[in-house]
Amino acid sequence: MEQRFAGRKLRLGCSWLSFSVLAAIQLALGAGVVRGQSGQRDGAGWTGETHAEEIVAARSAVMLEMERLMRPLDAHAAGEPGNPDLLREAAGTISTFLLTVPHLFPPTTNLYDPNAETPATLARPEIWEDFSSFHSLADAAAAAAADTLTASAAELPQAAARLREACDACHTRFMRTYSPPTVTEEDLEFDFESLFPAE
Ligand code: HEC
Repeated sequence: MEQRFAGRKLRLGCSWLSFSVLAAIQLALGAGVVRGQSGQRDGAGWTGETHAEEIVAARSAVMLEMERLMRPLDAHAAGEPGNPDLLREAAGTISTFLLTVPHLFPPTTNLYDPNAETPATLARPEIWEDFSSFHSLADAAAAAAADTLTASAAELPQAAARLREACDACHTRFMRTYSPPTVTEEDLEFDFESLFPAE
């Protein structure tokens, strides 16, 4: 590859500029930055680099949609009756979403801030310390969803319960637990009338 670059540069002539461009390309190759692309890091292929916040928003939307689709499945697992075909269809859509999940977590989206009141992301940095475990948990959840898609009517409640366990297995390890702001005793006793002068 280096030789091909070198050959191209030589045909262009050996000006100081092309020499320095070549040196820059070789440096980038050494650093593993250029992977068979033009080397433009703001190019169309560098979504993780240039649109990290958008990826966080996309995975949040995917997760929330899976949550919505899980509701009738959770209810069925808890003993409520349901239409097996509709439940299977929901599981099928969830399994498709789950296949995309590992790819919505490039390292550039490691934006976790434990001190932020409204965090940019709930994804914990441990994901990128052990990405293969994260990936396996996504695969296991996709498999559980596929099992739910093909379950018989009698098997559906148990299959749905196993799918929920697969969601939770990943959240327990890799998602920050969200604690909504709590109302303190002090807030409740606050004297709102003191804000308005008596007339
Ligand atoms: C492989 C790991 C993994 C699996 C499997 C997984 N999730 Fe998540 N989920 C996450 C992570 C990490 C976050 C935090 C994402 C962020 O904030 O950037 C998350 C966030 C969420 C959220 C909060 C979204 C928000 O922005 O408020 C919901 C709801 C959710 N997941 C539902 C589900 C459901 C339902 C399933 C199973 C059908 C599931 N997840 C499977 C890792 C996973």
